[in-house]
Amino acid sequence: MKIIGRRNEENEFKPIHKLISLKGRRALITGAGKGIGRATSIRFAEAGADLELVDIDIESLGKLKEELTKFNVKVNIYKIDVSIKKEIDTLWEILKTKAPDVLVNNVGIYPTKPFLDVDEHFLKNILDTNLNSTFWMCQHMIRNRIKRGGVIINFASIEALLPFKKELAHYDMSKAGVIALTRALAHEYGKYGFRVNVIVPGGIWTPGTKKIAKDILKLKYDVATSGIEYLMRTPLHRMGKPDEVARMALVLACDMSSYVNGAVIVVDGGFLSA
Ligand SMILES: NC(=O)c1ccc[n+]([C@@H]2O[C@H](COP(=O)([O-])OP(=O)(O)OC[C@H]3O[C@@H](n4cnc5c(N)ncnc54)[C@H](O)[C@@H]3O)[C@@H](O)[C@H]2O)c1
Repeated sequence: MKIIGRRNEENEFKPIHKLISLKGRRALITGAGKGIGRATSIRFAEAGADLELVDIDIESLGKLKEELTKFNVKVNIYKIDVSIKKEIDTLWEILKTKAPDVLVNNVGIYPTKPFLDVDEHFLKNILDTNLNSTFWMCQHMIRNRIKRGGVIINFASIEALLPFKKELAHYDMSKAGVIALTRALAHEYGKYGFRVNVIVPGGIWTPGTKKIAKDILKLKYDVATSGIEYLMRTPLHRMGKPDEVARMALVLACDMSSYVNGAVIVVDGGFLSA
C-alpha cells in the first residue's frame, strides 16, 4: 500500500537553505535576555524569524533588540515574570492575533539549597518558574494554534536524568516534570500538527553558571569539586557554549527536524554517556 504524506510539502525535496530557514515564522523565546535564550534569539533572527522576546530583565532585552537590527527581522520585547500565571495570560492576550509558530520555554533558575532547608515558599518559586510556566505557556500555544499546529521547544537539564550536583533536588524535580510534560504533549497533540521536544543541556557557560563559578573563587568546596568532576566526566572535557545549544534549538525549530517529536535531545558533550 502506498502511504501518501498528509501534506504535499512533506514529499517535496527541499534544499538545505530552505529547511534551515525560519523566514516567515514568528518565535516566542522566554529568558531571552541572557545565556542560552539570548544565543537562541540571535540564531533564530539569523535564520529569518520574527521574534517575541520575554524576560524579567528588560534592560538585557533592550540591548539584544539593538543587536538584532542587523538581521532585519521584527522584534518585540516584553517584561514578563513567567513564574506568575497572570503575566503569562496577559502576554498571550497581547499575542492573540499573532500567535507564534515556535515557542521556546527556556527560562530556568537553579539556586542551590540543602533538601532539608527547602521551605514551601522556595519550592513554589522553583516549580512556578521552571515547570508551571512551561505548562501554562504550552497550554496557551496549543489552545491558540490547535487548527494550525506549531513547534514547542522546552528546556530540561542533565540533572533531571542524572542528579549530580548536590542541593538541587528541587531543580531536578522541576526539570523531570518538564520532560514528562513534553512527552505527554508530543503524544497527545502530534496529530494536530504540533512537534514538542525537550533540550537537555549539560554544563553551559552562561551568566547563570558564572554566578556559581564565583562561589568557586570564594572557595566553596562542594561547588568547586562538582565543577571539576563535571569536566573530568565529560568526554569533551569542557563546558558548552550557549550558541552550541542555540544551534540545536534552531534545528528543532525548523523543518530540518520535521519528523522529530517527543524527543529528549541531550547537548552535554557526552556527560551522560560516561
Ligand atoms: N547553563 C547551564 O549549564 C544549564 C544546564 C542545564 C540546563 N540549563 C537550562 O537552560 C535554560 C537556560 O539557562 P541559562 O544558564 O542560559 O540561564 P541564565 O540564568 O544565564 O539566563 C536566564 C534568563 O532567564 C531570565 N529569567 C529568570 N527568571 C525569569 C522569570 N521568572 N521570568 C522571566 N525571565 C526570567 C533571566 O533574567 C535571564 O535573562 C534554563 O532552563 C536552565 O535550567 C542550563
